[in-house]
Amino acid sequence: MRAALLIVLGLAIGIIGTVFTMQALSERDALPRAVMVTMGSHRHQLQQAVKGQRCEATANLDQLQHMQMIAADIPAAFPGTDQPFQNLAGRLRTALQTASQSAPADCPALAAALKPVDQVCSECHQQYR
Ligand code: HEC
Repeated sequence: MRAALLIVLGLAIGIIGTVFTMQALSERDALPRAVMVTMGSHRHQLQQAVKGQRCEATANLDQLQHMQMIAADIPAAFPGTDQPFQNLAGRLRTALQTASQSAPADCPALAAALKPVDQVCSECHQQYR
């Protein structure tokens, strides 16, 4: 009887431990993914604007500034990453700042402004994703 109780107790502790570990793991992964999914969503909206030939200066700037702010969150969202990763995050921020400052008012200008930005996205993804 006592042995059976101990087995049940051991199982319960094991299950609780597993649940806590899995929660900790998914929380750890949530922030970096959330940052990238949000970044991707803004990039996608700009893509849709170009596709539909609806590139309005105010909306373009709004999206680019959002992306710039999200880029500033990358270092904190990916703790423990190496210096080259941090440099790429910095380059993305600069590329987005330049794109914002160019204030693209039509689709060709927007597409041109996004080119150096996309370059940094794919450079980092090739190495770290
Ligand atoms: C400094 C490095 C770096 C830069 C720059 C970067 N990313 Fe990422 N991105 C990552 C890493 C690392 C992952 C994988 C994250 C994970 O799965 O936890 C990722 C994943 C993603 C994902 C997939 C998210 C998912 O899990 O569904 C999208 C979308 C994305 N990035 C969009 C972008 C866009 C758009 C840009 C440029 C505007 C960009 N990223 C720039 C490092 C970067």
